[in-house]
Amino acid sequence: MKASGPDLPGPEPLDELDRYDRQGRRSPLDEIADQILGEIRERGTYRRMRVLDGLQGPRMVVDGREVLLFAGSNYLDLARHPEVVEAAVRGARDWGAAAGGSRLITGNLQVHVALEEELANFFERPAALAFNTGYMANVGVIPALVGPGDVLVSDALNHASIIDGARLARCEVVVFRHGDVESFAEVLGRVRPKARRILVAIDGVYSMDGDVAPVAEIVKRAHEVDAMVLLDDAHGTGVLGKRGRGTAEAAGVLGEVDILMGTLGKSIGSFGAFIAGSARLRELLVNTARSFIFSCALAPAQVEAARVSLRLIDSEPWRRERLAENCRRLRQRLAASGISTSPSTTHILPVVLGENERTMSACERLLERGYYAQGIRHPSVPRGKARLRITPMATHEESEIDGLADAIIDVFSNEN
Ligand SMILES: Cc1ncc(COP(=O)(O)O)c(C=O)c1O
Repeated sequence: MKASGPDLPGPEPLDELDRYDRQGRRSPLDEIADQILGEIRERGTYRRMRVLDGLQGPRMVVDGREVLLFAGSNYLDLARHPEVVEAAVRGARDWGAAAGGSRLITGNLQVHVALEEELANFFERPAALAFNTGYMANVGVIPALVGPGDVLVSDALNHASIIDGARLARCEVVVFRHGDVESFAEVLGRVRPKARRILVAIDGVYSMDGDVAPVAEIVKRAHEVDAMVLLDDAHGTGVLGKRGRGTAEAAGVLGEVDILMGTLGKSIGSFGAFIAGSARLRELLVNTARSFIFSCALAPAQVEAARVSLRLIDSEPWRRERLAENCRRLRQRLAASGISTSPSTTHILPVVLGENERTMSACERLLERGYYAQGIRHPSVPRGKARLRITPMATHEESEIDGLADAIIDVFSNEN
């Protein structure tokens, strides 16, 4: 049976792809793709990319329809900030559209070095190293630090890039219950006697739940047994903490996290990622992180945009404040109608609906009303925990937050 439904609007994706097949002949590749895609459809988790149009911001055109965007990671709305855009233009004009090589060959431009110095200062760490994406940072840093005979102690809900980094490292992975310090301590005690090295990996803000890791407790207990801590703060960077330094700042341990990973493509409004930590860590990564060594360097436009965004995070704190206020308002409006966004305490607000179809149907009904909050299914979240993932921005108006809350309440009260 072909699964169909609200998650598959428009033409059937496979029919669409058939237009590109070779003269009607089914190749082995087509057979394999059909089989795997058929299984994905049977499970009801077929994915389709929506097409967005317009300037990155709180209002965009999604699949031809103008909507308010509550689904992105441009939380502070810096991606279209005139100074950020101007910096990107200047970067391309002064340096060209590409870095022209990997950092270790011809791509190590003065702007990369400047960005890294500024990142190190911003996060009050001795050094920083830019990566092309957060995904590449995680799959680079984990194998650089642990391997066979070592253990990665990992929160149960860590991002896929941490899991993939551990696969590349071929280390043992021992998982502790999500956000649970007791479970973490138990796992740590169990693996310490047998492990050569231990790397503890946590997300700062969990990307699908919006809750925050108990960073201070984890760092303290890890350091008691000489374990290293990797904090993936993809979603906390720029947003959390008094000065936007992220989850570690909010927890009062900014200087104590051994390996701080953050992205430049979310709240920073550019593209790329970084690792901040000791000067030795930087040297180690330059010499061993394969996703750093064997990949072209970030384009100068992206680098210059990120540098200006870092300054704006300091000079425009109202963006963090407005984002927090928008999230508080939405959370309260939904709670007043019995709609929970638990366990979120941040700018990522999940409304867990459970079933895939119910979730994707709610997503479509919201789009019809002019609001885009993405429905998320397995494997991005555990089976049976499909959800709407709502991410307000700093620049949504109060009335727009209220409009979204009303639309969600309306959609839920008219479910059949
Ligand atoms: C927790 C977490 N880590 C890492 C990443 C990967 O970052 P990037 O999109 O820069 O590859 C993401 C991306 O969504 C994330 O949510």
